[in-house]
Amino acid sequence: MTPKLINKIELPLIGNENGDLSFCESGKSIPFEIKRVFYISNVRKDDKRGFHAHHKTKQVLFCIQGSALIKFDDGKNKDEILLDKQNIGVLIDSKVWHSMENFSEDLIMLVLASEYYDESDYIRNYQDFLDFVN
Ligand code: TYD
Repeated sequence: MTPKLINKIELPLIGNENGDLSFCESGKSIPFEIKRVFYISNVRKDDKRGFHAHHKTKQVLFCIQGSALIKFDDGKNKDEILLDKQNIGVLIDSKVWHSMENFSEDLIMLVLASEYYDESDYIRNYQDFLDFVN
């Protein structure tokens, strides 16, 4: 069976009159040891990011504020998911070409990654990606 492209991760959402709280834990709700955290903000709605794959890095994305469309491509199949809830994330496996677009301008995207930053882990050319996975 082909692995699913979209693997949603749903975190607890504990809301009360003082706000909403969500949480995740390395190796538990996040299916890898978290070695790196980065976040993206101050986007314009026509901006697009990503357009790469990783040899090794796995990532989980959350839109902890605002929304974004996340697109996936494993070289054979394409899929996409709109992230618009602080407690719903999506796993981007290694060797999956991905991009982010349709940003809301209040977006704050939180990314949890399984590896330290290493430019040699990136595949930034789409044809190289197709050659690599096929
Ligand atoms: P990049 O991964 O290309 O961003 P996006 O896929 O969202 O368009 O990263 C943009 C720049 O930031 C690039 O010069 C690499 C640098 N960067 C780091 O130094 N460390 C990191 O952890 C990340 C994610 C990026």
